[in-house]
Amino acid sequence: MSRKILVTSALPYANGAIHLGHLVEYIQTDIWVRFQKMRGHECWYVCADDTHGTPVMLRAEKEGITPEALIERVHGEHLRDFSGFLVGFDNYYRTHSPETQALCNLFHARLTAAGLMETRAIEQFYDPVKTMFLPDRFIKGACPRCGAADQYGDNCEVCGAAYAPTELKNPYSAVSGAKPELRASEHFFFKLSDPRCEAFLRRFTRAAGVLQPEAANKMQEWLGTEGEHRLSDWDISRDAPYFGFEIPDAPGKFFYVWLDAPIGYMGSFKNLCDRQGIDFDAFWKPDSEAELYHFIGKDILYFHALFWPAELAHAGFRTPTKIFAHGFLTVDGAKMSKSRGTFITAESYLNAGLNPEWLRYYFAGKLSGTMEDIDLNLDDFSARVNADLVGKYVNIASRAAGFVARRFDGRLGSPDTALPVFTAIREAAPRIAEHYEARAFSRAMRDIMALADEANQYIATAKPWELAKEEGEDAALSRVCANGINLFRLLTVLLKPVLPALAARAEHFLNVAPLVWTDVETLLPEGHAIRAYEHLMQRIDPKQIAALIAANRENLEKTATPQRKAAPAEAAAPIGIDDFLKVDLRIARIVEAAQVEGSEKLVRLVLDIGEEKPRQVFAGIKSAYDPATLKGRLTVVVANLAPRKMKFGLSEGMVLAASAPEGEPGGIYLLAPDSGATPGMRVQ
Ligand code: 2FM
Ligand code: ZN
Repeated sequence: MSRKILVTSALPYANGAIHLGHLVEYIQTDIWVRFQKMRGHECWYVCADDTHGTPVMLRAEKEGITPEALIERVHGEHLRDFSGFLVGFDNYYRTHSPETQALCNLFHARLTAAGLMETRAIEQFYDPVKTMFLPDRFIKGACPRCGAADQYGDNCEVCGAAYAPTELKNPYSAVSGAKPELRASEHFFFKLSDPRCEAFLRRFTRAAGVLQPEAANKMQEWLGTEGEHRLSDWDISRDAPYFGFEIPDAPGKFFYVWLDAPIGYMGSFKNLCDRQGIDFDAFWKPDSEAELYHFIGKDILYFHALFWPAELAHAGFRTPTKIFAHGFLTVDGAKMSKSRGTFITAESYLNAGLNPEWLRYYFAGKLSGTMEDIDLNLDDFSARVNADLVGKYVNIASRAAGFVARRFDGRLGSPDTALPVFTAIREAAPRIAEHYEARAFSRAMRDIMALADEANQYIATAKPWELAKEEGEDAALSRVCANGINLFRLLTVLLKPVLPALAARAEHFLNVAPLVWTDVETLLPEGHAIRAYEHLMQRIDPKQIAALIAANRENLEKTATPQRKAAPAEAAAPIGIDDFLKVDLRIARIVEAAQVEGSEKLVRLVLDIGEEKPRQVFAGIKSAYDPATLKGRLTVVVANLAPRKMKFGLSEGMVLAASAPEGEPGGIYLLAPDSGATPGMRVQ
């Protein structure tokens, strides 16, 4: 039965370049979409640039161009990068579009009519020099807890404390450097706290399969137990100057970028429908039989699993069939880093002459359909691609093709329909299809490579190169080659969602129509003419990887401009030794280190400091360390800091780390003692 499917990937912001971290999502989605299309389903894949908001507005201003000119340029860059990685959108649009604006107004009108919109005055920091209200990200100051200078308005990168911008010491505007003032302004709120929204979200969360188990748990946490009323209303407006859509009948008030972004999925699809005569309503009406899937990063689950479905449900539209959240990308076990050269842009990867399908295959081999982070290990990358794609898969074609061309005029002999490896492939195909459907691509790749191993074993045993030397073995040689070419064709069907360009070259070589999934059940018949074999894929040369890293490191040096407004760093007053000794510094061993779901900065550490019970400490070091690499390390902790209740739990101390100023290469460096120190030793 043919399904109607609409698929989206998160909309990238229109003020930055696409990097390998982004590509995890687009490649994951694209593989899934290509698989659905190969199965014969009506499947549409739409995306767009997320064009609104303060950062886009300020970036354009800094470049001395209009926001429209900026988003136009970035749109071109993004499209170039996506097509470079063979991401096959059916439409790549922009949220700054008439379709999205009309839909935003419709949502606003319907939610207002439903009694789910409200205006109320709030107090916010205002920059009197720049004459604008400041988003939290644009307010900086000293951390109210540890005093570290130049911290953002929401939390401290040094000690990990979370706070409101109004708690910062000596706050200043990151835009003009001016001291911000508190000012009141009317804002529009979407009433998420309304009992109708809460009841809807409880049902939505419980519906089987809509959310991954980890995401459903997160939602339960956000919703709390019945009667707790944990959800608060969502502020969906921003004051001028703002680059966005003005709210109807509210001059100077704009829809917040996160209100119009998901509506941009619909806007992009509407634009496609209008051009291609697709029935938009059939996909979006409340009782639609079409399926709707959003692929997103786990960091934006809140927007997609709470706000978005609640808005849709109460504005008279259908809700998502499933939301697929994925983890983040690390490179060589650490966050992508500009100073290490592992913050790799899509453009630099392609410019270095690296094949996009190498990355597509590598990511496929790592993706599991869960929210776990995935690691791009650069040594493993070369080893795996060379061994699997070149050594196992492409090799099958190259081993048979020459004989077919030279000895049989390019015509295939009759394949052995009873060959066990043909049966194995046919029998494995439904299971592999299930893995694709479940986004368990790593399992699909593992199963396909196991079949490629069997295919190679067959050829190694049949030894066509020896048959070719013997008299009277033409028929046997022809059959072995026909088997080999057919094995290559079957593996191509299975790999095609991941390797679309290679598959297209293979189809040309095999002289066949574009392969679809059911082709895995058939064989090329005797007499079928194939074309001359041309090299299908190169091996990765480790030098290419080294050059890529160097290119990205250089980029940084060329472009690094310290943009910080020098906030007056308060010099610490001199203290006596007695004061210093009040601080109880101890050697600690990190016995556990884990990500903190929902926090961009924090890592949760469990520290052995020689006491009976280990302590829990939250440290703002996530940007620099992969928790997996911290286990077992020694560091220094302030042991007598009063325990502090944070959003994520109690923090019973503080680990010491050095940090370079914001915006400059460097990052955060955990202190470590010389070897020999043991947990609990005092540091003085
Ligand atoms: O987090 C981001 O990069 C956002 N630009 C994603 C928006 S996704 C959707 F809601 F539009
Ligand atoms: Zn701090």
